[in-house]
Amino acid sequence: MATVQQNSELGRQIVDDAKRYVLYSWSVQDAIAPIAVAGAEGRYFWDYDGKRYLDFASQLVNVSIGHGHPKVVAALKEQAETLATIGPPMATESRSRLGKLLAEVTPGDLSMSFFTNGGAEANENAIKLARWYTGRNKVIVRYRSYHGATAGAISLTGDPRRWPAEPGVPGIVRMFDPYTYRCPAGHPDPCPVCTGAPHLEEILQYEGAHTVAAVLLETVTGTNGIIVPPDGYLQSIREVCDRHGILLICDEVMAGFGRTGKWFGVDNWGVVPDILTLAKGINSGYVPLGAMVVREEIANWVRPRYFAGGLTYSGHPLACATGVASIEAFQEEGIVENAAAMGDVFRTELARLAERHPSIGDVRGLGCFWGLELVKNRETREPLVPFNGAGEDAKPVTATAKRALDRGLYLMTHWNVCMICPPLTITREELDEGIAILDDALSVADEFVD
Ligand SMILES: Cc1ncc(COP(=O)(O)O)c(C=O)c1O
Repeated sequence: MATVQQNSELGRQIVDDAKRYVLYSWSVQDAIAPIAVAGAEGRYFWDYDGKRYLDFASQLVNVSIGHGHPKVVAALKEQAETLATIGPPMATESRSRLGKLLAEVTPGDLSMSFFTNGGAEANENAIKLARWYTGRNKVIVRYRSYHGATAGAISLTGDPRRWPAEPGVPGIVRMFDPYTYRCPAGHPDPCPVCTGAPHLEEILQYEGAHTVAAVLLETVTGTNGIIVPPDGYLQSIREVCDRHGILLICDEVMAGFGRTGKWFGVDNWGVVPDILTLAKGINSGYVPLGAMVVREEIANWVRPRYFAGGLTYSGHPLACATGVASIEAFQEEGIVENAAAMGDVFRTELARLAERHPSIGDVRGLGCFWGLELVKNRETREPLVPFNGAGEDAKPVTATAKRALDRGLYLMTHWNVCMICPPLTITREELDEGIAILDDALSVADEFVD
């Protein structure tokens, strides 16, 4: 482990300058209290006071390989020395290798990639291509979703982060989510929403299936509550899309690259989407990178045509070199297999926490992608923080996360859901360390239970 250098004064200066000169994402600027990070390694990062934090959020669920992975850092250095930057019209070794590797690790005949700087741009390009390919306009998305912050991607997003950007881009239609714990249809058996096809078919009837270019969804919903669809759901959405000539776009910006214990979320259900969008775990954010990967049929359709899309940094050599190194490390070190094995441990350990803590209403997830849904009352399922709750309303959960942070565990929370998404390289000892701190922190949430 790298030595942790203390320099509290520098840490304070960094935070003061950040608050004065930097505009922070999704925040009331006066309320932010960022940690000045001095360094990071493996599953830990540390501040300028020398305090270490176990990263149970993988930052924004993106540092899947862990911090400072030697192979990825070496690839970055080597690429910087060989060819630090070059324009997208050139062919470069790292970009070509990454394209080929993605065709190998993604399921089915997904085979041609367009590289972006992140997830939002991958989704922007996916809907542009779907509209062009089908000659149709509408895109069906879900309410409990986040697809990025650019104009099109925030319009695709279902959660309230889209509100300030409305009316947004036209042609977006929303459907309900297979959120079995709080099913919007009341979850009859069989449930029209949670089985997928009946709800989608009804929407298509009203919208006109011939006007719909694509259904775009997070394979496993991330920030909006770690919602794992019931078995059969994704297959049934796939069938409906096929029946009506609609493209299925799976956003695996968060769920991809081993997060769910399989290479891709769709691999849990044997479904091949027409377009897969990726970012985050593709290279763990060592350099910004995203991708839209399309199936052979679409690739062949595009080849003789003029593709009206581009980015100055599409397929940036540094980003692609880290992508190649990261995928190779995943293969060499069995990182996806580790995520699956740790997923089994999480399933058991989080169920144990639920036995001890009345604030836990639901435990759900797979691999290293888990959510604890916190409630005031298990019978009524009243959430501990209301939908879109912030400030004082969010206190039961922010106070819980603060207690964890004080004890050295960094957590990501969203309204009443506490996310547990460590790097996929986590060891059993680190997992146990995190669970023990979580156990202690949840006693804060329990104090708010009726
Ligand atoms: C599922 C999903 N899609 C898209 C995005 C947007 O990615 P980016 O922030 O890289 O644009 C995110 C980011 O959190 C995400 O979780």
